[in-house]
Amino acid sequence: MSNGADDARAKIKTVTLNGERMPLADARVSVMAPGLTYAAAVFEGIRAYRNAAADQLWLFRLDDHIRRFVNSMRLLRFDDPPSFDTVRRQVIDDVAANGYREDVYVRLQAYIDDWGDMTATGPVGMAIVSRPRPRVPAFETGRDFGISAWRRLADNASPPRVKATANYLNGRLAGLDAKAAGYGGAILLTERGTVSEGPGGCIFIVRDGVLITPSVTSGILESVTRDTLIRLAGADGQACVEREIDRTELYIADEAFYCGTGQEVVPMLSVDRLPVGDGRPGPITRRLQALYDDTVRGHTDDHADWRTAVHETN
Ligand SMILES: Cc1ncc(COP(=O)(O)O)c(C=O)c1O
Repeated sequence: MSNGADDARAKIKTVTLNGERMPLADARVSVMAPGLTYAAAVFEGIRAYRNAAADQLWLFRLDDHIRRFVNSMRLLRFDDPPSFDTVRRQVIDDVAANGYREDVYVRLQAYIDDWGDMTATGPVGMAIVSRPRPRVPAFETGRDFGISAWRRLADNASPPRVKATANYLNGRLAGLDAKAAGYGGAILLTERGTVSEGPGGCIFIVRDGVLITPSVTSGILESVTRDTLIRLAGADGQACVEREIDRTELYIADEAFYCGTGQEVVPMLSVDRLPVGDGRPGPITRRLQALYDDTVRGHTDDHADWRTAVHETN
C-alpha cells in the first residue's frame, strides 16, 4: 500500500458491510461474486471535513453523492438496491462510529454478491469504509500532466456517467502510462480528440479570464466537485462556460487545474511538458481553491445545505 494507507487503515475502528458493523479484516466478499468476476460494481468517494474551531466533521454534498450512487445502481440494473435513505443513514453512522477527529474519505461500494454470470443483477452487497485522508500535497504544489494515448470511454460503450468500477480500467491504463512517462497525472481525450477528463477528476482551463470546462457530454463523470466549482465561480462573478475544449487549448491556456473529491483542486503546472501559463498555479485557480476550502470546511455560512454534520455515536 502507499499514500499513508497503512496509517489510515490502523485508525479504522469499524466498517459497514450489508448494514452490519465489523472490523475491516472481517469484511469479506466471495471470490466468485460478479462484483469481482465481471466488475459488476459501482462506487462513490465522499469526503468529510473537520472544522477544528467548531469541533465538527461535515460530510460534503452527501446527498448529491448518494443520488449519483443510486443512479449508478439503477443504470447497472441492480435488483432491489439499498434506498437513498438507507445508504445515507449507514454512511453517517459509519463515520460517526469511528469517532474521527480529522479529514475523512468514505468509500461506498455496491456490487453483485455471491455467485453469478455476467448479467446477474443480484444479490446486491454494499460496503462502507471511512478512513482518515489528508489533503494531497499537490493542492499547494501542483502537478505536471501528460495527454494519454488512450481515449476516454464513450457513453455508448461503457458510460462514464455511471461510477462503475469497470470504467476505471480506462483510467488505470492512462494513469500507468502517465506514471511511466514521469507525469503526475493523465488527461484523456474523447474519440473526437477533444478534452474529456482525467482518471479520477475533471478538468478546467482559463483563457483570457474565462473559466472553461468540458460539457457533461464529453465522456466525463458528472462530478460533484466540478458542479461545486462552477457554482462558486458564478457567485464570485467569475465567467465560466461549459463547452468542448480542443487539445491545443491546453497548450495555450493561462491556467488549468484538475478536480475531484479526492484530489480537490490540483493546479496543472504543465501539459506534455509545456508550462501552463508561467508554470505556477494561477490567480483564478488559487481563488477557487480558497473558495472551495471555505465552503467544504464551513468557514462560510453559504451553502450550509452542502454540509451534513456527523455527530459521534460512540
Ligand atoms: C473519472 C472521474 N471523474 C471525475 C471525478 C470527480 O468527481 P467528484 O467531484 O464527484 O468526486 C472522479 C472522482 O470521483 C472520477 O473518478
